[in-house]
This record gives sequence, C-alpha cells and structure tokens, in this order.
Amino acid sequence: MPDPLYFIETYGCQMNVYDSELVAGMLNKCGYSKTDDIHNADVIFLNTCAIREKAEDTVHNRLKNLHYMKKNNPQLLLGVLGCMAQNLKNELLESKPYVDVILGPDAYRRIPEILSDRNRDQKHQVDTKLSKFEIYEDLFPSRHEGVNAWISISRGCDKFCTFCIVPFTRGRERSRPMDGILNEVKEAVSMGFVEITLLGQNVNSYRTSEGKFHTLLEKVATIPGVKRIRYTSPHPQDMDEDLLQVMAENENVCNYIHLPLQAGADRILKRMNRTYTQMEYLELVEKIRNFIPDSSISTDIIVGFPGETQDEFIETLKVMEISAFDSAYMFKYSSRPGTKAAEYTDHIEEEVKQNRLQQVITLQKKLTLQQNKRHIGKTLPVLVDKESKKSPLKWAGRTEGNVGVIFDKTNEHPKEIVPVLIQDAQGVSLFGKRVIEKELLHEIN
Ligand code: 5AD
Ligand code: SF4
Repeated sequence: MPDPLYFIETYGCQMNVYDSELVAGMLNKCGYSKTDDIHNADVIFLNTCAIREKAEDTVHNRLKNLHYMKKNNPQLLLGVLGCMAQNLKNELLESKPYVDVILGPDAYRRIPEILSDRNRDQKHQVDTKLSKFEIYEDLFPSRHEGVNAWISISRGCDKFCTFCIVPFTRGRERSRPMDGILNEVKEAVSMGFVEITLLGQNVNSYRTSEGKFHTLLEKVATIPGVKRIRYTSPHPQDMDEDLLQVMAENENVCNYIHLPLQAGADRILKRMNRTYTQMEYLELVEKIRNFIPDSSISTDIIVGFPGETQDEFIETLKVMEISAFDSAYMFKYSSRPGTKAAEYTDHIEEEVKQNRLQQVITLQKKLTLQQNKRHIGKTLPVLVDKESKKSPLKWAGRTEGNVGVIFDKTNEHPKEIVPVLIQDAQGVSLFGKRVIEKELLHEIN
C-alpha cells in the first residue's frame, strides 16, 4: 500500500512556518508522505494563527470549505494545529465537529500517537496542554530547498503586552540549548541554505546557562558557510549594547533590526505594558544608528488601541517620522478575548481605526521611498534570491536591510552575494546594475 499523504497549510507568523516544518519532519518519519495537492491528501493540517480576529476568520472560512471535501471523502482526517487550536478548542469542538484533531503548539510531539489512536477509533483527538519545557530539541524540521532557513531558538513569551494573545496560546518563554541550535544551523548550511534567521517571540531575551542572545549570535556568525544572519522579533527592552556590538563586529550579521514600536504616546505604551517610553525608544533608535552605520530598521504599529486619542495617535506618526523606519507592518487593534486590553471599556470605533490605519500606511509609504532613495548611487551587497517575477532576464535579490533589488542577469546565480550599484527606488523596491568585481577594484583604487 502506498504511504498515506499529508498536506499542511500554514497561517500567521514565521514561528508557524517553522512549526509546520517540524510537524512535516515528524510525519515523514512515521510513514506519511507529503503531497502538494490538497485533493490527494489523506490528512490535512491547518497550522493556525490567533493574533487578530481576521486571521481566525480566514481559518474558519477555510474549514467550511474543507468540510465539503470531507463530505465527499469521509476518510479524510482534518486537523487544526497552532494558536487557534490552543485558543478556541471548545468553540471549535462545538461549531466544527468535523474537525478530527486539535493540537496546541506544545503537543506536536504526540502527532504519531494521535494519528494512530484516531485511526483506531473515530473519537476526536485533542491536546492543548501547554508545557514549561517543550522545545522540540531532538526533532529536525523538514525544510523546502531555498535561500533562508528559519531556526527557532526559543518558544513562548513572558512579556504579556496587554493586546497580545501569544503568551496565552504559546505559553511561557523557554530557550533552546545553544548546542542544538548550532547543530541545526550547521545542518541547514550543509543542505545548501546560506541565510539563517533566528526566531523567537522575543528573540533577544534568549538566555541559557551558556550565555545570552549576543553570545549565540556570535557563535552562529562563525559557522562556515553562513553568509547572512537575521533575527526576529526582538523586544526594545532587551536590546543591549553587547548585542549591537556583535552586530557591528560581524559582517555576516545583517545591519537590519525589526524593532516593534506599537505606539508613540507614553500613556498608550504604558497601557500596552510595553515597558519603554517614547523617549527611550527614540534613544534606542539613535544608539542603533550610531553602533551600526547605515542600518535599516523596520517596525510594527498598532492603531486604535483602546482609549487612543487623536493627539496620542499623532504621537505615533511623530515617532515614525523621527525614526524614519525603512518599513513597517501596520495593524488595526483587534480585541482578543482573554487579554487585559479586551477588558478595557474605551474601545475605538472601527471607522476611526480604519482612518488611522490609512494615515500610517500613507506616511510609511513616503518614509520607505525616502529611505530607499538614500541607497541610490551606492554599491550594496545583494543576495540573489530567485528570478524576478517580471522578467526571466532579471534577478530578484535582497540587501542586508531586507529591501528587494531587481537587476539584469549576468553570470551570477541564486544564493550568491554580489555587488549591485543602486540606480533607482520605486514603490518598495530598488533597481540596479551588477558591478563586476574588476570595475569595483578600479573604483576603490
Ligand atoms: N491587534 C492588532 N495587532 C496585534 N499584534 C499583536 N496583537 C495584536 C492585536 N490584538 C501585532 C503587534 C505585534 C505583531 C506580531 O502583531 O504589532 O508586534
Ligand atoms: Fe505578544 Fe508582546 Fe510577547 Fe510580542 S512581546 S509576543 S507582542 S506579548
């Protein structure tokens, strides 16, 4: 009999992408094979996100579609994994009884056992216990071939920002031992990955008996074959000088930091439990720019947090403008039942939130273009990603600052870092010309 086939659909953040790779690795080991065609699958897992209501709505709708598939194929096994499984276990069991398996983010190790239990009797299989210890240390993720490998270095979050569901869905913060992480990096390099992105809900609060985050970062930087290293997402509170020093000293650590701001006004930051003031945030931005010249900074912004006045919203615009972010992920506040902010009584009207979102998007478009234009005339190292979608004669690559660069193909190939003279900036992209090393030498002399 051929192996049963599985299909995993992933929603939400990079941590979920990593977790889906872990689950795939485990399924491969216990006799299942991956299919890229959902219609052929015997098992379908949705790895879900609960960060905003919209993310949950998407999965609810997807499940309704899959219900039809299951009606045509009653043997099909349907599983919900991840943050929504953790968060909405009872609601899912009641409203979608056709979902067979519900597993929270700390229960994946039990997948082989759960699948065989389910195959034996037809009862729902549910495990949403959170663990203080689970770090999936001995499991290796099954990765697609590519340029960048995501590697999880810690799980969970203890920060409890008042808007955020993550501490409830992913549990307490745990750091993986350094050795396991370094082995996983070496394995990824031996498989052909050249860029490593270290992942954690609070990546820079990583801490083990062997050292803190900056020690780990330095060790990763010395592994032969690691051409670029990124990390996401750090918390401003844990950005220390040791870390900035390691970034400045190691050429393969990208001069790029994703530094979530969330809001500009001190009263809102306090209500969000972000643990820094506007001034402290701005000082940090300045410090980053001093330590790491020409660094790029991106951010996360939430508009319409409960009680946010017009003047307080304008503080967010002000901080965005002063920080001159290279890019930003911008969101309307979404109330998450169970979080502290959901209990506040002064929620902002949808229309106001929408209007504020539009304003931050418009401002960020301007800032991104302004920041990208500062590169025109410079020769930047660009990591070749893949062929441009627009033309088979062009490459799409990325700068250290994570900006997409389009340039004509000459003799380079994907995964190579090549010098590109930046000639234009449009939208969110840069356009340039490959500099042949001879020309570069000439320029330097
Ligand atoms: N509403 C809107 N945005 C949120 N985020 C987290 N929780 C919420 C919420 N309830 C955003 C934050 C965070 C990013 C991952 O998602 O900006 O940094
Ligand atoms: Fe959520 Fe705040 Fe933790 Fe980030 S730091 S995962 S926003 S609680």
